[in-house]
Amino acid sequence: AAGMLAPVAEVEFGEAGRRLLELGLRSAEMWPAFASDLHRAAGAEVGLMRTGTLMVARDEDEARELERQLTFRESLGLRAERLRPSEAREREPALAPTLRLALEAPEDHSVDPRLVLAALRSACVSAGVEIREHTRVVSIESHGARSSTSPARVTGVRIGGDGPELVAAGQVVLAAGPWVEQIEGLPAQARVPVRPVKGQILRLRDPAGPGLLRRVVRFRAGYLVPRADGRYLLGATVEERGFELRPTAGGVHELLRDAHELVPGVSELEIEELCVGLRPGTPDNVPVIGPGALEGLTWAAGHHRNGILLAPLTAELVVDVLAGSEPAGPLLAACSPARFAAALARSESEHAPAPRVALS
Ligand code: GLY
Repeated sequence: AAGMLAPVAEVEFGEAGRRLLELGLRSAEMWPAFASDLHRAAGAEVGLMRTGTLMVARDEDEARELERQLTFRESLGLRAERLRPSEAREREPALAPTLRLALEAPEDHSVDPRLVLAALRSACVSAGVEIREHTRVVSIESHGARSSTSPARVTGVRIGGDGPELVAAGQVVLAAGPWVEQIEGLPAQARVPVRPVKGQILRLRDPAGPGLLRRVVRFRAGYLVPRADGRYLLGATVEERGFELRPTAGGVHELLRDAHELVPGVSELEIEELCVGLRPGTPDNVPVIGPGALEGLTWAAGHHRNGILLAPLTAELVVDVLAGSEPAGPLLAACSPARFAAALARSESEHAPAPRVALS
C-alpha cells in the first residue's frame, strides 16, 4: 500500500461511493489521534505527512474531467481548490510546464504503511498478543444451527503448519484480505464474495534527498506519494487477474510514462523496489465490517483501495462489536456483510458460483 489517507481524492460517483466516502472521512479524522496512540504504544513514528494532495491534468480531456470532479466534490461539500497551472507549479515546482489544471485536496494526507505495520506489531506484542506468522488458516470451525433461535456459532479456527491445530475461540475476526474465500468452513449463507485486485507499485529514492515533491500528486491512472526521507511511491496498476502476482514490463512502463510526463524529475530517481500486491475487493468495493450470519464471527475484510485509510475506523467498529458496546450504527450499516446475502442465496439456488460484479 502507498498509505494515502485520501477520501476526497478517491471519492467515486454512485451510492457505494457515498458510503465509502462517509467511512473514509470518519477514518481520516481519526488518523492523527491513532498515529499518536501508536507512537505512544510502540515508541515509533508512522510517517504521517499532513501535506495535502494535488490532482493534476495533462491535457484538455483530463482538464475537463477534473472540472467535473471538482463540481462533484463541491456538491458533496468537500474541500477542493481549483488551481491554474502557474498556481499549482508555485506550490509544486517539479510539476511539468505542460500541466493544464490542478485541484488541491488540502486535507488528504499520507502515512508510511511499513512504519504503521511495524508500530502495530510492536504495540500488539507489548500488550501480550501472540502473533503466529506464516501460518495458514485452513478453516473456520463452527457448531451447526440447531434451530431458528439457535443459529450456527463459531468455535475457533483450524490452522495449518507442521501439524494442523485447532485454536478454540468464542469470537473470531476474519481479516484475511483477498484470501477470505480460500478459508473453508463458512456456511454458504455466511460467506461474502471477495476478489483479488492486483496492483504494481514502484518504490523510488531521490539520491539528492527530499524536496522534489511535498504533496501527494495524483494523475489519471496513478499517484506519486512522497515520504519525508526522499523516497517516493509510484503506483499503482489496477488489474483483475485473480491471484496472479507477476511484475510486468507493461505495468512499470505505464506508471513511469505517466509520472514522468507530469513530474519530469522522476527520471532521476533510483528504483529501489517493485512490489506487487493484491487488494481485496467486494462486489461494490466497499468493505465488509461487523457481524455476519455466523454468530461470533466478525468481518474486517474487502477494503480494496482503502485499507490503510480505514484502519482506525475498522479497529474501532470491530472492538465495539467484540466488546458488545453500542457500535456506530450508520457506519456499521454502510459496510454490513449482510448486504450480499440475497445475491449469494440466489446464486446458491441456481448452483452458480458466487457473484462477481464488475468494477464501476
Ligand atoms: N489506494 C490506492 C491503491 O489501491 O492503489
